[in-house]
Amino acid sequence: MTAVTSWADVYGTPLYVYRLDEVRRAAEDLRAALPSPTRLYYSVKANPHPLVVAELSRLGLHAEVSSVGELDAVAAAGHPGGRCLYTGPGKTVAETLAAVRQGVTLFSVESTTDRRRLADVAARADTAVDHLVRLNGTASGASGLRMTGRPSPFGVDVTDTAALRETFEPQGRVRPVGVHVFPATNVADEPALVDEFAQSLATATDVMERVGHRPRLVDLGGGFAAPFAAPGERPRYPGLAAALGGLLDGHLPGWRSGEPTVAFESGRYLTGGCGTLLTTVLDVKRSRGTTYVVLDAGVNVLGGMSGIGRLMGTAAQPLCDGPGDAVSLVGPLCTPLDVLARTANVVDPKVGMVLALPNVGAYGLTASLVGFLGRPVAAEVVLDGPDDVVDVRRLELGQGRETT
Ligand SMILES: Cc1ncc(COP(=O)(O)O)c(C=O)c1O
Repeated sequence: MTAVTSWADVYGTPLYVYRLDEVRRAAEDLRAALPSPTRLYYSVKANPHPLVVAELSRLGLHAEVSSVGELDAVAAAGHPGGRCLYTGPGKTVAETLAAVRQGVTLFSVESTTDRRRLADVAARADTAVDHLVRLNGTASGASGLRMTGRPSPFGVDVTDTAALRETFEPQGRVRPVGVHVFPATNVADEPALVDEFAQSLATATDVMERVGHRPRLVDLGGGFAAPFAAPGERPRYPGLAAALGGLLDGHLPGWRSGEPTVAFESGRYLTGGCGTLLTTVLDVKRSRGTTYVVLDAGVNVLGGMSGIGRLMGTAAQPLCDGPGDAVSLVGPLCTPLDVLARTANVVDPKVGMVLALPNVGAYGLTASLVGFLGRPVAAEVVLDGPDDVVDVRRLELGQGRETT
């Protein structure tokens, strides 16, 4: 079996290594944790690599997309537009038209304006389009990153009855088919996740009763957690299927026969564990009591959103054989924000050594500042099992072309 770090000798660093067998394992685990029958969407934002998308598509997952780039990724994966849900708070006419032309017939609308624009596009394309109404409900327990349940650009406020009534009215060639909630990502544990779903279901059914809507599809979102850039296992949810089954029986009695279809979404749980980042130590420096390990991967390669202070700081920890030195892991960029870990454990760090950061298959390269300081984008290699290379590629950022 090939040690993961040896791929650095073949393809250089920084290098993302993705394992499709890990993607399959995660998908099986999540399916087993969810009640049946339900639909599962893969949130392409977590990792838009077409082979990752293709693997999940082959396993029967639908795709949740929210940009033209993600539409390209699903097209490259051979995933049909008819099995996509298009989401996002600021959809343009151009991207909505591109989605409709690619066969997407299901959108999540986030406001009355978003719904009107969708109706205009559907009329222009002379295509019938369905939509969910995304709700901004009430907040429940603790979570990693809360998206609704407070002032938010996402969803229609459940207190705004006039806006709810308007978005649930059929208009032209668009018609509402249900609701969408996605209150939070990376929720702490199983009880918190069950609380989140209980709250969402109660909110969704209350809204649908108020506006007199009978749903064909209820998308309860996700919040399934995964470790990031440090060793660790995906959480297990042994009691989730039964707890959710009970909640669904109470709120949506026809769900077991698909009336309505119930859906969930996940990005990080499905792909987080499939990725490892290989990075080479370029320098080891002592400065006033701190050891800095300077890597060839910084926030341009990993965790850019934490680098710019938008998320909780990255606390990367490479795979490590034993107790080592407490060091600061920094990248090569000329900014003090280029930090992957203030304190990580590295055994005897040396120039030329290759470190492996695990659990970066979700929100790794795709959530990084790839254009910042103009370094080459990290290469990505896709394996099936530890030894079989399926694909190697590197995104190119050029100087661009003149546009008129
Ligand atoms: C609407 C929506 N769906 C799905 C996701 C994916 O979340 P995660 O990767 O935590 O599963 C997000 C993340 O922001 C989201 O906004």
